[in-house]
Amino acid sequence: MSENIIYCYSGSGHCLDMAKKIARNLGDTDIVMMRSFPIKTDAREAKRVGFIFSCMAGGLPGDVENYVKAIQIAPDAYRFAVEQYAGYLGCGLHKIDNIVHLDYWDSISNHSTAIWLMPHKLTLPPTSKKTAQKRIERKVSEVSAAVLAGRKSEKKPPREAVFELMSKGLGKTHATRVKKFVADDSCIGCGTCVQICPRGNIRLVDKKPSFGTDCIGCLSCVQYCPSTAINIGKITEKRERFPNPNVKASELTEKIIHID
Ligand SMILES: Cc1cc2nc3c(=O)[nH]c(=O)nc-3n(C[C@H](O)[C@H](O)[C@H](O)COP(=O)(O)O)c2cc1C
Repeated sequence: MSENIIYCYSGSGHCLDMAKKIARNLGDTDIVMMRSFPIKTDAREAKRVGFIFSCMAGGLPGDVENYVKAIQIAPDAYRFAVEQYAGYLGCGLHKIDNIVHLDYWDSISNHSTAIWLMPHKLTLPPTSKKTAQKRIERKVSEVSAAVLAGRKSEKKPPREAVFELMSKGLGKTHATRVKKFVADDSCIGCGTCVQICPRGNIRLVDKKPSFGTDCIGCLSCVQYCPSTAINIGKITEKRERFPNPNVKASELTEKIIHID
């Protein structure tokens, strides 16, 4: 059993990159992926249990809220969480805190992976990818130091009713978007999208992806397609992809990543 467990949700690799960096600073850590039901929910032997995830539609991504409810943590374990977001923090940290009672929490804004909504570069204030990554690395150092010192946050994560409503409304808008996933002629039929989809929602038919409706909107298929062939309607056709350069598609499909 590892001394630390970090539960991580990551669609385009940015939270996984952060989780790996924090794990390297902590040592002896299992990163348990939460894009589907986590393979390990018994965390009672871990001294520190962390949650690193992205904001999606103002709340928690996918089924993360239910997954976290299934996790068992020792009463005296140190609990921490870090959320990445683009424009607003939403209510994800508040929801995690409600379930596990966090000792420490933090957050950091990054470029947006929601490229059907806006180009990822449209940040306020404007930053380059390089600057965003540097900021994340600074945050990694701060969080690692805080966690190693067992620091406690003075305040609870913010709770804003508007984001709770927004995350509840996600289902409807997402259902419309799901129908717009298409692969264009540049598709090489490599099957990366099939392998990376956490729901098994994509299959190859005549060497082209066919998309079902069981999609959690992680966008891994869009972001990691090696020929940029997958689009959400026309809107993403001219938009640059933004997968994390330090995370390979194959890592996102792992169930547990151990870091010494
Ligand atoms: C489906 C989807 C919804 C998102 N919703 C929000 C949001 O409501 N607020 C926000 O600030 N960022 C939002 N984002 C941006 C991500 O939180 C941000 O880009 C994060 O760094 C992605 O990390 P990841 O690659 O580990 O998933 C969204 C991204 C996606 C793909």
